[in-house]
Amino acid sequence: MPLDKPKNAFTLPALPYADNALEPVISAKTISIHHGKHHAAYVAKLNELIAGTAYDGLALEEIIQKAAKSEKDKAIFNNAGQAWNHDFYWQSMAPKGGEPAGKIKDALQSSFGGVKEFKDAFQKAAVAQFGSGWAWLVKGKDGKLKITTTSNADTPVAHGEMPLLAADVWEHAYYLDYQNRRPDHVKDWLDKLANWSFAEKNL
Ligand SMILES: [Fe+2]
Repeated sequence: MPLDKPKNAFTLPALPYADNALEPVISAKTISIHHGKHHAAYVAKLNELIAGTAYDGLALEEIIQKAAKSEKDKAIFNNAGQAWNHDFYWQSMAPKGGEPAGKIKDALQSSFGGVKEFKDAFQKAAVAQFGSGWAWLVKGKDGKLKITTTSNADTPVAHGEMPLLAADVWEHAYYLDYQNRRPDHVKDWLDKLANWSFAEKNL
């Protein structure tokens, strides 16, 4: 008899702040739909898909890495990737993000030539990501920071890289507040919401 629930069911992580804490850049309405509907649906679907399979009982990162190697498990990859990416995204923002300082500022300086240079390059990459996806600040294998983008549910975790920060550039992340103005959203996200103490912890 098929199981209707995995042994290790994933749960939707709570937001680290109130729904309205990121206003005016991201409205309470956007946050409540994004977290309570989109993110919740990825977690629920993942639980449904892994019940009774070889994925049941694995950590989320292990599910992502295993499913990345199997075309038939694309749906598991997509929902596991989105569950991980969203959890990381909520932590990548803070109500008063402010400007990078200390070790993370030094790392941005040495990898990109300065904070402004980093922001310009990140914004450009996020805007150039065609369709749905993510923009990431990651630590490369050479120890330098770099900017990457991924499509849909893809994630640096699938490629053995540890991200420092993630910006969701799916339209569901900004459309109610910025409509088609992704460049403005990403600029405000970097200037007002990026969580530099979280980024520094991931260094
Ligand atoms: Fe999203």
